[in-house]
Amino acid sequence: MSLKEAIAQITPSLLAMRRDFHQHPELAFQEVRTSAKLAEFLEGLGLEVTRGVAGTGLVARLKGARPGKTVLVRADMDALPIQEASGVPYSSQTPGVMHACGHDGHAAIAAHVAAVLVRQRESLEGEVRFVFQPAEEIVAGARPMVEAGVLEGVDRVVGLHLYSLMPAGQVGVRPGPSMAAADAFTLHLRGRGAHAAMPHEGVDTVLMAAHTVVALQSLVSRETDPIKTAVVTIATVQAGEGAHNVIPETAVLKGTLRTFEPELRERLMRRIAELAQGIAAAMGGSAWVEWKPGSPAVVNDPDLVERFRQVAKEVVGEERVLEVPPVMGGDDMAEFLNRRPGVYFWLGAGSSSPDQNRPHHHPGFWIDDERALPLGVELLTRTVLDFLR
Ligand code: NI
Repeated sequence: MSLKEAIAQITPSLLAMRRDFHQHPELAFQEVRTSAKLAEFLEGLGLEVTRGVAGTGLVARLKGARPGKTVLVRADMDALPIQEASGVPYSSQTPGVMHACGHDGHAAIAAHVAAVLVRQRESLEGEVRFVFQPAEEIVAGARPMVEAGVLEGVDRVVGLHLYSLMPAGQVGVRPGPSMAAADAFTLHLRGRGAHAAMPHEGVDTVLMAAHTVVALQSLVSRETDPIKTAVVTIATVQAGEGAHNVIPETAVLKGTLRTFEPELRERLMRRIAELAQGIAAAMGGSAWVEWKPGSPAVVNDPDLVERFRQVAKEVVGEERVLEVPPVMGGDDMAEFLNRRPGVYFWLGAGSSSPDQNRPHHHPGFWIDDERALPLGVELLTRTVLDFLR
């Protein structure tokens, strides 16, 4: 039986699973039903399944008849706190929760890659490890799975993200940095409170905050190579309790840092602290920075991207394999790609008439699952077979 025939056979199950997940969406770290359904399905195929990894995560191993490399296929499972308004007959039955990013499709695709590959077990060399992570939407599920050891013995990783704004059947990928690292920071400034009419008696944290906000703008404009990309934004400024005549003792600045390159990320993290502390010290106060690190940037391995491109050209045709620009949004697939070489690619899942398409995280989010999902299975299956070589 050819691969296309095998995929045609499992397509009804593939669509049914995705639509079942769509009707029963679960938020980050609450993917109990989704995870249990996947575990049952994968156990039914004869895979070695470990439940309850990092909470609701799941690992399923497909061991080939002969030894070889290990390729990890990663999928996410979580939905979003959005009231669905897509109008599809299989809309969410849970008020206020919706699969508005396509993770229902990712989970169903990965499970059905297992269903296709299990038929080739006798000729399979090595192991295919299917990892279903919780909580991608809050960028918190991948790291505990990595810490639980799911990457042990893994040589290469692969995953896909469906994309509603790209017509079904198109594939987008780029070598190197593809999605940004997103880190949040809070700057705590301390001066000395005083009467507003006697500023010489205090250390003014409002002025300190103002100088700090202005100085931070120089990190990207004056210290970062113009060819490279970074964002430093202060999104919150808090000082004072509403009085006209009090110099506040403390001020708080909150912001986000977006970068693609680890060296630039580390340097800007260090420089944000140095600038804030230097300005505070020069003015007679103090500052400390608190980081809430996000995931690192999604960085694809150039050689494996080239191999993936060859596979994708055979599946969808050369003209449908596009090199897409990097995006400033993040994805914790980065936690896997940061530790093992691999590829994360976009698979178009929208309509070919763009006005029908809604962006991700929109209440009207919709994907052409009948066209996109079987292609997702074929692309991942062939890529896994190629990466096992
Ligand atoms: Ni997503």
